[in-house]
Amino acid sequence: MTQKIIIDTDPGQDDAVAILLALASPEFDVLGITAVAGNVPLALTAKNARIVCELAGRRDIPVHAGCDRPLARDLVTAEHVHGKTGLDGPQLPEPEMPLTSEDGVGFIIETLRAHDAGTVTLCPLGPLTNIATALARAPDIADRIARIVLMGGAYFEVGNITPAAEFNIYVDPEAARDVFASGIPITVLPLDVTHKALTTAARVQAFRDLGTKVGDMVAAWTDFFERFDKEKYGSEGAPLHDPCVIAWLLRPDLFTGREINVEIEVDSPLTRGMTVADWWRVTERAPNATFIGGIDADGFYDLLTTRLARL
Ligand code: RIB
Ligand code: CA
Repeated sequence: MTQKIIIDTDPGQDDAVAILLALASPEFDVLGITAVAGNVPLALTAKNARIVCELAGRRDIPVHAGCDRPLARDLVTAEHVHGKTGLDGPQLPEPEMPLTSEDGVGFIIETLRAHDAGTVTLCPLGPLTNIATALARAPDIADRIARIVLMGGAYFEVGNITPAAEFNIYVDPEAARDVFASGIPITVLPLDVTHKALTTAARVQAFRDLGTKVGDMVAAWTDFFERFDKEKYGSEGAPLHDPCVIAWLLRPDLFTGREINVEIEVDSPLTRGMTVADWWRVTERAPNATFIGGIDADGFYDLLTTRLARL
């Protein structure tokens, strides 16, 4: 039984690797990809999503453009991490496949209504604007979503765009507040876990050793993407954030976490976008998320590399 998923994304080199992992895995029926403004503006994330689908030989995947700005804030982008195109590193051809629509939110709503309740999982890899907008436009879909498995937030690892907040949540904290208050089952892959899945020279070489265009592209993206984090954290490599979402769906046994309450700061400019995770259960607030904190990093990279070899 394949898992039906919609990938909501702001490519971003790590988003690109996540999309490739999903498209390389027969366990998934990727119903479509919706682009959102985040790492770079929407026009680029919608273009980059199509570049990645073509790289995977999957022009059949519907790619829709979603929201071009957060619910209530100006857009904040991350060219300093991902480069001007969002996929800096290798030279990439312009995509030939067209956008399926400019209404990614409508695609999410209609797809959830068209499939049996509880059979479609949403995989947000960027700001949660599209998801929150879909929930606001069509409240009936909340009960139809099997689970939201998202990359975002941080607790022990603290923030990466401010001292308090992780980028995806920071960009659209109101959207994140609405998603975490929705009552929908949520799994969170925060910086706490992605920072334990660092690219290393050996792991990047394993991509190159695949001897395929995909392997070479992923290695080139990783080389570009990791320069920022290595300099900032003085680490040996960079966290490969978004593929953790897809890996959790494939092999949850590679991860550890706990059911806790997570609330989102939307009022304070100082801590905007902070995921206030009650990891030690010191409040009476009801658990609303499976918050992942641990990963078998070697198992993750073995999974990723062997799956990418199939493309
Ligand atoms: O903070 C990391 C997250 O922000 C990742 O999803 C990355 O692609 C950016 O969207
Ligand atoms: Ca992303």
